[in-house]
Order: sequence, then structure tokens, then C-alpha cells
Amino acid sequence: MLDPQLTVLVVDDSVDMLEILRRNLNDLGLNPIVCSGVVEAIDILESTKIDLVITDLHMPKIDGRQLVKYISQHFNITPVLVVTGYPDVRAAVDVMKLGALEYLIKPFTNDELKEAIENVLGNKIQEITTAISTEKLSSFHGIIGVSDVMQKLYQTIERTKNNKATVLITGESGTGKEMVARAIHYNSNFSSAPFVPVNCGAIPDQLLESELFGHIKGSFTGAFTTRAGFFQAANTGTLFLDEISNASLTVQAKLLRAIQDKEITMLGATKSQQIDVRIITASNSNLLEMIDKQMFREDLYYRLNVVTVEIPPLRDRREDIPHLFDYFNKKYSNEQKKAVLKISKPLLKILIDYAWPGNVRELENFVYRLVIMTDKKITIEDIPNHMKMQSPTNEIPDTMMTLADMEKRYIQKVLNATGNNKTKAAQILNIDRKTLREKLK
Ligand SMILES: Nc1ncnc2c1ncn2[C@@H]1O[C@H](COP(=O)(O)OP(=O)(O)OP(=O)(O)O)[C@@H](O)[C@H]1O
Ligand SMILES: [Mg+2]
Repeated sequence: MLDPQLTVLVVDDSVDMLEILRRNLNDLGLNPIVCSGVVEAIDILESTKIDLVITDLHMPKIDGRQLVKYISQHFNITPVLVVTGYPDVRAAVDVMKLGALEYLIKPFTNDELKEAIENVLGNKIQEITTAISTEKLSSFHGIIGVSDVMQKLYQTIERTKNNKATVLITGESGTGKEMVARAIHYNSNFSSAPFVPVNCGAIPDQLLESELFGHIKGSFTGAFTTRAGFFQAANTGTLFLDEISNASLTVQAKLLRAIQDKEITMLGATKSQQIDVRIITASNSNLLEMIDKQMFREDLYYRLNVVTVEIPPLRDRREDIPHLFDYFNKKYSNEQKKAVLKISKPLLKILIDYAWPGNVRELENFVYRLVIMTDKKITIEDIPNHMKMQSPTNEIPDTMMTLADMEKRYIQKVLNATGNNKTKAAQILNIDRKTLREKLK
């Protein structure tokens, strides 16, 4: 059964044909709007919510192909059915490539039209829900990523499986450094031993030393009991030192000894003790710069980075974005006991183009919020304005161009970002609608 709420835009230069289609569509319980040319059709598309477009191909002035192309570029989720009097396989293939979903040859019966419409609507709906999920999810110990860099990262992790080499993980905030540290540990052949994470940035400088190495009763004011440190807790397993750049030079010197000699001395103790720990460190500041400023020991740096894992920012591996989106969408929808949100390709494209300065963490929080705030389908309104607009610095092209060309590109970009809503675009561009219309001409 077709949904009677559906509005169908019919474009044909023949008045007779428009009349036939109008009657057929009315009979099918749909709501038809008819027009005789491409320009008029685009005007209607911009001002009215259209669920399906049925267009003729051969029309004077502007060909139906142009309309199909325009729709697929600007209204990607609006399905298109092409109707033509010329049975030509090549033309059919061509318009399908441009984005049409079905091709119907005149004359046709009411049943044939109905079947074609059902096909088109069914196809398009399916396409939106499975846009991502048909592709295989690639993950490694919960790390989602299909890009080449992530595949290489999985291989690096594999290489740390049977040894206790130190690993230095670098990457911007939110790229998944802690996740990678855990994956290294749980993928290793000593995964049943403890994994002990320590955030060096969160522990006050004076305390870090005793927290790491432990202390003997009475070794400093307040040391009422003898207490083991994180090193002892991580023995036979992994000690993850997050934000290592925060460790003082004193702690750095002790760390160096621990790694070199595989032994530590508790604060206030006279004897050292053997330890067997893999050390993983993570940093989002540039340790080499700190070495230059003599804030980080060079000798320690080279002990810590036997294996290095550089996690690139999300904007440098954009092919992972749809997979991460899909993963978090399912995860939080299940958690909230809600239906998994649908997203159309153009909206997904906005997410792929966005720079994600907070990396995966920002994407995760964004999807979590969407799952809570939205039902069923994500619309352009659900995406904050700053995401629709890319950072202008990324937008300056390498090739030289005129100001007029640059303006044209920028206007097009704003139009895309607003889902081709001219009123919103004019607001963002800070010009009135009339000026925008003139510029578009
Ligand atoms: N590739 C990924 N697949 C799935 N989830 C990820 C991925 N990368 C990061 N995350 C998620 O993003 C969030 C941030 O990751 P994590 O804490 O490991 O980042 P980080 O690099 O340690 O950040 P910071 O520098 O701010 O400490 C976590 O919730 C983590 O589960
Ligand atoms: Mg972290």
C-alpha cells in the first residue's frame, strides 16, 4: 500500500502526459504536483517537501537528465523515476548513473506505474538504512577502523604480542590512545596479568613518585604504612603511564632506572626489587620539543619508544567515520533501547567532511547526544551549524582562482551545508535572499 501522504512532483513538457500522470497518481492515492519544465521543478523542490520525482527525459530547453543530476547533487534522498517515450538502453543506463532509480517506458499501465513507484520508494528507503551497515565492520579489540593507517596499527599491535618492548603511543586528544594501550595488553600472551593505568597528569608531582614505586612506613610525613606502588601492582603485566609529559625530572630519572635495570626501589627503602613489567606510555604533547627545552630526558625518550604507535587524527582517516558512526549509533541505541537512527547519505557526508577537532571522543559524544535527542531519522536540523561549515582554512584551494570563483564555491558550500535552504544560506552568508538569488543566476 502506498502512503497517501506522499507528494509526487511530475515533470513533463506534454500537457496530455501531465494529465494522465496526475490522474494515475490520484488513483494510487498519492498527492501529485505537476509542472512542465526543469526550472519550475527546481523551484518547487526548493520550496516544497517532495517525496518522489517523476520526470520526462526529452524536454525542450533543459533536458530531464539535468534535473536528475541536480536532484542527486542537491536533494540526494529524493528518489527519481524517469519516464520516457524513447526506449533506449544507453539513455536508461546514463540516467541511472546520474542518480535515477527507475526507468519506465511510455505507454505504461497504471499497474506498471504503481510497481515502478513501489520499487523506487522501497529501494531508496533501503538504501538509506543500509548505507553503512552492508559494509563489514572492521575492529580489533574494540578499536573500530578500516583505513590503511588503522590496519597498519593493528599489525603493529600484533608485533608486540610476544615481547615486553616499551611502547610510546602518540596522538591528539580523543584519538584512542588509552584504547590502543589496552588492546596491546589484552592482545599479548600475558593478557591475564594486570593492566594498570596511571594518569601522570592527574597525580600531584610530589605524590607521583611514591604512587609509582611505593613507600616504606615513615619514609615521609604522612607515610603511616608501607604501601606498594603501581609498579608492583602491574608486576608480570602492563603499566600504562598516560600523559607521561607530566612526569617531573626526578620521576623521569627513576623511570629510566626501572626500565634499564628492571628493578625499582621503594621510597625510604634500602634495597631494590626486581620487576617484570611492560611499560606503555602515551602523550599528546610533543616530547621532542620538550627534550629541546630540557623538560624531558632524551635518554628516557629513547627507552620509551622502542615501539611507537602514532594514531592519526580522525580528519586524516575519514573513511573510518561512517564505521565509527555506525558503531556508536548501534551501541547507544541498544543501550537506550531505541531504534537505531537512520541517516541519509548527504548528512553522513557532512559528518565525513567535518574536521572533528576532538577526534573519536567528539564523534562518540555527538552520536550519543543524537540517540538521546532524536527519534528514527536524523535531519539536517539535528546537526549543529559549526559542523555543517568546515574550517575556512581547509577551504583555501591550492590552485589560484579569482575572487568570483571563490565566492561561487563558497556559496555552493553553504547551500550544501543547509540542505539547499536558501533562507538559511542567506542568513549564514549575511546577504538577503534576493541578492543570493541574483548571485545564483
Ligand atoms: N577507533 C576507535 N574505535 C572505537 N572507539 C574509539 C576509537 N578511538 C577512540 N574511541 C573512543 O573514544 C573515546 C576516547 O578514547 P581514548 O580515551 O582512548 O582517547 P585518548 O587518545 O586517550 O584521549 P586523551 O588524549 O584525551 O586522553 C573513548 O570512549 C574510546 O572508547
Ligand atoms: Mg587518554
